[in-house]
Amino acid sequence: MLDAGGQYCHLIARKVRDLGVYAAVRPSETRAGDLAGAKGIIISGGPASVYDFESPTADPAIFSTGQGVLGICYGQQLMAYLLGGTVTRGEKGEYGLATLELDEARDPLFGGLSGRQQIWMSHRDVVTAPPAGFTVLGRTETCAVAAIAAAERKLYGLQFHPEVVHTARGREYLRNFVFAVCGCAPDWEPRGRVPMLEQEIRDAVGGRSVFFFVSGGVDSSVAYTLCRRALPAERVRGVYVDTGLMREGETDFVSRLGVSVQQAADQFLGALAGVTEPERKRHIIGEEFVRVQERIIDARHIFEENWILGQGTIYPDTIESGGTAKAAVIKTHHNRVAGIQKLIDSGRIVEPLKSFYKDEVREVGRELGLPAELLERHPFPGPGLAIRCLCAESDAPVHATADGYVIPVHSVGVQGDSRSYAPVLAIDAVDGHAAPDHERATALINRLSGINRVIAAVATRVPLAGMLVRASSLTPERIERLRRADSIVRRLSHASGFDGTVWQFPVILIPLGTSEAPDSVVLRPVDSVDGMTARSVTMPAELLDPMCEELLAIPEIAGVFYDLTHKPPATIEWE
Ligand code: XMP
Repeated sequence: MLDAGGQYCHLIARKVRDLGVYAAVRPSETRAGDLAGAKGIIISGGPASVYDFESPTADPAIFSTGQGVLGICYGQQLMAYLLGGTVTRGEKGEYGLATLELDEARDPLFGGLSGRQQIWMSHRDVVTAPPAGFTVLGRTETCAVAAIAAAERKLYGLQFHPEVVHTARGREYLRNFVFAVCGCAPDWEPRGRVPMLEQEIRDAVGGRSVFFFVSGGVDSSVAYTLCRRALPAERVRGVYVDTGLMREGETDFVSRLGVSVQQAADQFLGALAGVTEPERKRHIIGEEFVRVQERIIDARHIFEENWILGQGTIYPDTIESGGTAKAAVIKTHHNRVAGIQKLIDSGRIVEPLKSFYKDEVREVGRELGLPAELLERHPFPGPGLAIRCLCAESDAPVHATADGYVIPVHSVGVQGDSRSYAPVLAIDAVDGHAAPDHERATALINRLSGINRVIAAVATRVPLAGMLVRASSLTPERIERLRRADSIVRRLSHASGFDGTVWQFPVILIPLGTSEAPDSVVLRPVDSVDGMTARSVTMPAELLDPMCEELLAIPEIAGVFYDLTHKPPATIEWE
């Protein structure tokens, strides 16, 4: 896979691997000589124009090695441009569903696929004349050159995206390319690679020992378990830091993996006492992590030569363009310790999963016999419940407006590339249920300045007008209250199967209520692919109703709300 611009590239590589063929991602400029071991080359799409200054290019020699080459979207334009065809700057572009007319063809890529079919397009520029020797085989109403081939040279181009689900027969194009054009064998099977991975670990570690910080997430747990299998038990150490900000049952759950638990709850909660501002919380948590980690590393002599560090790094983490680098701009994630950086810099690190995608890591985990409960886990942020337990400096009333109630609790959002920190608008739910009216939420945020999130009141002890925001901080009592609410939500959402349909389901505690019941709970189920963008998901009433009932049975909870906001303009977590 030659990467001509980010996210698409990983999606194509994953789709190829799903077909049982190993695909690795390389920069688009990689020299033909360095690609000699590949059976075929795919050039990805990307946002650039071939005419842009310093836009991604490719080594023209790749088109004459006899390897199959498939250019997708920008990849097709680049291939056409480099081989002497004409690419024209588009005026408006074409985005979304389109109908492809594909001619009858006998060659290995298009054979059997002719006729009208739904495809998905996302491009501005177009190829207006293919290079000499190419035939145009497919077109749409607005794009005259949507599929091209120089079959005897094994060169192909598609203007549409076969990797997305909206292209009805997309998988067949990729299958034809890897098997019929390139002659690949379906021999990539992550499960079957466990013995090889174990051998790689033994080779990398040699006579040394491996140390892990295990978070309880999928990647670090699978990487740790692999090392435990590959090496004698006494040479693999795992530590899990209990910050006191974890969900119910988490510490027990993680200790079942055989890691030792480092209790640091007093240290974290002590440092956070009285702190309300989100970035302050995040920095303090980062700093406390650093302290605990340095202490452990010192006490266990992990700086000594016979130790190396184990990490659950996965494939997209190793490639800059595919990571979620942007998230760090909006929120500070917890830090990497200097001591750990030293181990990394001196090459004393083993990352057994660094060529795998998340779903492949799950497959490896299944092969290792790890429970589904662990492998299907939702992501959970490092700073834990601290960033889901919102605080307020002082008492303040809610403010009635024509559109709803402005709640003076601030949450983080992302608009454009900038961070926002603004109050929340609460609207009444329709018929007692969260109105699944996400469009209205988006319209409200666009129209009203000064809010970045909309929540619907689903069940409250008193009308919204009778509630107020109370001064509150991160106390052990409030964290425990949130932990209890979160555990109710997780239990019911797991029992109904709803958790399997969403990407993540944060539960937030906000200091909105009455003197007897000072807090409220916000439900935030979202769907996402990578956390960079997300959609608020509607919950079935059969689940929401009993959930509200159990949550309102907690005496200090005054209401249950539902977050209707997508990301952007809100973020997934509230802080
Ligand atoms: P946001 O709230 O930025 O979250 O929309 C995007 C994804 O990142 C997770 N997240 C974190 N993960 N440390 C982590 O390991 C952090 O500090 C952190 N903050 C947010 C969040 O749960 C979501 O999946």
